[in-house]
Amino acid sequence: MTSPATTYASPFVLSVLLLVSIPVIFLLAPRLLPPKTLPAIPDADESEDLALFRRAILSSSSSATPTPSSAASYFFRRRPAPKVAFLFLTHSDLVFSPLWEKFFRGHHHLFNLYVHADPYSVLELPPTPSFRGRFVPAKATQRASPTLISAARRLLATALLDDPSNQFFALLSQSCIPLHPFPTLYNALLSDNAGPHGHHRSFIEIMDNAYMIHDRYYARGDDVMLPEVPYDQFRFGSQFFVLTRKHAIMVVRDMKLWRKFKLPCLIKRRDSCYPEEHYFPTLLDMQDPEGCTGYTLTRVNWTDQVEGHPHTYRPGEVSASLIKELRKSNGTYSYMFARKFAPECLEPLMEIADSVILHNVTEGVYIGCDVMNKHRVVHRALEGLNYVRNNISPPLFGYS
Ligand SMILES: *[C@@H]1O[C@H](CO)[C@@H](O)[C@H](O)[C@H]1NC(C)=O
Ligand SMILES: *[C@@H]1O[C@H](CO)[C@@H](O)[C@H](O)[C@H]1NC(C)=O
Ligand SMILES: *[C@@H]1O[C@H](CO)[C@@H](O)[C@H](O)[C@H]1NC(C)=O
Repeated sequence: MTSPATTYASPFVLSVLLLVSIPVIFLLAPRLLPPKTLPAIPDADESEDLALFRRAILSSSSSATPTPSSAASYFFRRRPAPKVAFLFLTHSDLVFSPLWEKFFRGHHHLFNLYVHADPYSVLELPPTPSFRGRFVPAKATQRASPTLISAARRLLATALLDDPSNQFFALLSQSCIPLHPFPTLYNALLSDNAGPHGHHRSFIEIMDNAYMIHDRYYARGDDVMLPEVPYDQFRFGSQFFVLTRKHAIMVVRDMKLWRKFKLPCLIKRRDSCYPEEHYFPTLLDMQDPEGCTGYTLTRVNWTDQVEGHPHTYRPGEVSASLIKELRKSNGTYSYMFARKFAPECLEPLMEIADSVILHNVTEGVYIGCDVMNKHRVVHRALEGLNYVRNNISPPLFGYS
C-alpha cells in the first residue's frame, strides 16, 4: 500500500525533475551525441609546431642572406655541397634500413637523415648506424587525419633548422625502397634546372582532374575550404615528394591554407579523407607551379588497391626485372624510389641490392639532360667530398 502523501507528491517531483533536466540536456548534448567530425589536432601540438616552424623560418632567412660585413667572406668561402635530407615518416620498424645503409654508404657528406616515428608505435629493431640519433620529437599520426601533414611539416622544419646545406627534402616511409644508387638520385636532383631562372625544381605530383577529387574537396564539410581554397585550385598528388629548400620553407611558412586543411573530416565522409594528398600539391601549385615538375620520383602500383592502400609487393614478386620495370617513368627522370614493399621483402631485396638496385647504370636515367648540366653536377659532387659534416644541434632531436 502506498501512502496518500507519496501518490500526491510523485507528479510534482516528476515535473520538477523534467524542468531541471532541460538545461542539463542542452549542456550535455554535445558530449552525449556522437561527434560529427573525426578528432581534431590538439591545440598543444599545434602551438609547439608553430614555435618550431617560426625558428625554422627565422634561421632560414638569416642563413640565406649574408650580412654586408660577412659578404666578402661569403663569396670567398667554399660553399658546402648541397645535401639531400631524407625524411622518414613511420609508425613501425624501419625494416629496410640494411638496404638503405648500403644506399647511403660512402655518401654521408651529401645527405642527412631524419625519422618521425609515431610515439605510440612499438619499434623493436634497434636503429642501424645511419638512423641512430636521428629521431625527431614526434607526435601521434593517424590515417584520415591532417596529423600526417603535421608530421611531414615537422620533419621539413627540423631539417631546415638542422643544416643550411639541406637543399632537397625527400619524404619516404618504412615501406619505401631505393631503385637506383645514391649518386644517380643526387645527380638527377641537381641536374634538373628547368625551374624559373634556371633553378632546381621540386619533384611533386600535381593533378587537377583526379578520381574522387570532388568528394575529397568536400570531406571537411560544404564550402568550409572557401575562400582560401577554391574548388578549381584544389589539387591531388602522392604525399611522397622531393622538395627544394625554397619550397620546404614555403610549406613551413604557410598558415593560410593550413587553417583549412587542418580541419578534421566529417565522419560520414571519412572514406574521402586524405588531406596529405592534397595540401602539398595545392599549396605549391598556387604559389610556384613553374618550380614543380608535376610528377613524383616514387613509384607506386595502384592496380589492385584495397581501401586506399596500393599493391603491396610480396617476397615472391621481388626480382631484377621488377626493379627495372619500377624504374620506368613517363617523366624526365626515372623513378628513384618505390613503395610499398612488405617487411618480408628485405631478404630478396638484399640479394639483388649490389647487382641490380645499387648497380651503377647510367643508361635510361637521364631522359632529357644536357652536357653542361652533367659537368656542373660532377663538379659540385666533387666539392662535396671535401665538405666537413656539421654537428647536429642537440635540442632538435629526442632520444635515439
Ligand atoms: C602491379 O600490381 C599487379 C597486381 O595487382 C601486378 O599484376 C602487376 O605486375 C604490378 N605491376 C608492376 C609494374 O609491378
Ligand atoms: C606512361 O603513360 C602511359 C600512357 O599514358 C601509361 O599507360 C603508362 O602506365 C605510364 N607509365 C608509367 C610508368 O607511369
Ligand atoms: C658510374 O659509372 C660511371 C661510368 O662508368 C663512372 O664515371 C662513375 O664514377 C660511376 N659512379 C659510381 C658512383 O660508381
